[in-house]
Amino acid sequence: MKILSDPSAIEAIKKAKNIVALTGAGISAESGIPTFRGENGLWTKLSPEELASFESFYQNTAVVMEWYKHRQEVIKKCKPNPGHYALCELSSVPEHFNLITQNIDGLHQRAGSRDVVELHGNLLENYCVRCGQKYSIEEFDDVFNNAMNHVPRCNCGGLIRPNVVWFGEALPRENLELAYNATIQSDVFLSIGTSAQVRPAADLPVLAKQGGAFLIEINTQHTVLSEEADLILQGNSGEILPQLVEDIKTLLPKA
Ligand code: OAD
Repeated sequence: MKILSDPSAIEAIKKAKNIVALTGAGISAESGIPTFRGENGLWTKLSPEELASFESFYQNTAVVMEWYKHRQEVIKKCKPNPGHYALCELSSVPEHFNLITQNIDGLHQRAGSRDVVELHGNLLENYCVRCGQKYSIEEFDDVFNNAMNHVPRCNCGGLIRPNVVWFGEALPRENLELAYNATIQSDVFLSIGTSAQVRPAADLPVLAKQGGAFLIEINTQHTVLSEEADLILQGNSGEILPQLVEDIKTLLPKA
């Protein structure tokens, strides 16, 4: 075993048919994307209300869109790290595997993961708030770069916004349902790189545990979830996940 020594964790994984992983900003930290909370977190320096709400987008479109354009550029330059690749590898190990993410960076998909349940949208997608037309990142770049005062508008005249969930907005319903269904069926639930402070995503590990799942937390820090966790693996997910997946492969050899 590379990282697992806890007998109850080993027992739980040996019996697991449904494994669910929930990821947060921490899994992408080693790819160079800043987290929101904690040391140097984005929300320690910037105000979410001013940058991540529909009201501010409507009132200060240029400021908000310059901020999202900047984040799009950061994300385009970043690459998936060993944590993302390990979760892609894990997908074929148990009978059922579901990957749920709060991240909007698309790095799981770029690492090869399929059917990623995105709870907070995707920063590289954009759409018109009036007619709903979707804009790929290339199409959006074109409109943004030619827009007057960095206010991107659709051909219909409507404002174009990123496909991300802002404060006060509902999560995409279908994805939330997929996430709940996977969670209640899970035998082992991995909570990775999330401060577990933003609901409803933060409810998922708790729900899993209430349903009898073995809850493993992977984080560099103690979180509000740590008390609930059956096992805490403290450290960088980019280092822990490859080792953990190797152990799970040993415990759950393919039929
Ligand atoms: P947070 O920034 O709240 O938490 C990131 C977590 O990752 C913290 O608990 C860190 O300790 C941990 N962490 C940092 N580096 C790590 C590493 N290398 N390996 C493992 N863990 C590490 O991010 P989220 O929980 O994802 O919402 O935040 C949830 C939501 O709040 C985001 O999706 C976003 C934000 O407002 C929306 O945009 C709707």
